[in-house]
Amino acid sequence: MSLSITIRRPDDMHLHLRDGAVLQGVLPETTRHFARAIIMPNLVPPVVTAADAAAYRDRIMAALPEGAVFEPLMTLYLTEDTDPADVAAAHASGLVKAVKLYPAGATTNSHGGVRDFARVRAVLDRMAEIGLPLCIHGEVTTPEVDIFDREAVFIDTVLEPLRRANPGLRVVMEHITTAEGVAYARSGGDDLAATITTHHLIINRNHILVGGIKPHYYCLPVAKREEHRLALRQAATSGEARFFLGTDSAPHVDALKEHACGCAGCFTATNTMPILAHVFEEMGALDRLEAFCALNGAGFYGLPLTEARLTLTRGAALELPDKILTEAGPVTVFDPGFALHWHVDA
Ligand code: NCD
Ligand code: ZN
Repeated sequence: MSLSITIRRPDDMHLHLRDGAVLQGVLPETTRHFARAIIMPNLVPPVVTAADAAAYRDRIMAALPEGAVFEPLMTLYLTEDTDPADVAAAHASGLVKAVKLYPAGATTNSHGGVRDFARVRAVLDRMAEIGLPLCIHGEVTTPEVDIFDREAVFIDTVLEPLRRANPGLRVVMEHITTAEGVAYARSGGDDLAATITTHHLIINRNHILVGGIKPHYYCLPVAKREEHRLALRQAATSGEARFFLGTDSAPHVDALKEHACGCAGCFTATNTMPILAHVFEEMGALDRLEAFCALNGAGFYGLPLTEARLTLTRGAALELPDKILTEAGPVTVFDPGFALHWHVDA
């Protein structure tokens, strides 16, 4: 007898779609399974104003495959020049669902991010007032701090002070990678949540570095030790409302990944749902898959639950493409390193 599970159509609460040819190539990989996604604003140049977000949303809608039903949930890239009134208007119109904070230099296209938190105080005050969430890339960028410690140090030296200084601000700790991140998320009330990626449930730092360097496993925050991966799996499958899926699917063409200075990002849009079903089955938590992918994120963002459904069925080994071809070049699909058996029914 084949095992089957039906859930509300999932939401991806942290997604990079890029623009132009890459957007066109990768968008179907998300819309095939997902109803909505929080769209990251780290384009070049970044999506800073409401007008930028409206124009980007239009480009996404224009790139949708025939017949796709998909709602992009737009975000703004916080800079030291962001205008609180523009942010508030973008939120009031329903266009923008979150503001993204990148510490300057933390990751791909983050040079325009925040250096001096005092300079974004007025925006954060306004966001707390209107209930607009701040999505945070939680890593310090100080050169003295070891890359594997950057998330834990950020929590103590930036995130906790920032939350104390802005009571009532709704915060999403994006793509947590550590047991410290899990614990800190649990220390908050319902104004604090954390997204967890697909790949951080599968790989630890050995996968990147043992037996030859694997550029397609390199992402930021970088995968940590095994004990952290286990903490993330426990959190994701716990059913707790504060934890939800944000794949951080981050396409870069192969030429930029397989490079002397390769870009950070794992591309997981294509196989996230089969991988998650595998992980939740392994953890004896298939009954919580829907909470992680379709209930908790919508709850935090105050969105109606999705009405359409998605059915996954366990069967023969799944055959998926290794790469998605775009007009900018091929993008390699994340390889979990084992066969997947969960099929998303068409
Ligand atoms: C992301 C990207 O490529 O835009 N890369 C990544 O490794 N996750 C940026 C980010 O979310 O840090
Ligand atoms: Zn990201």
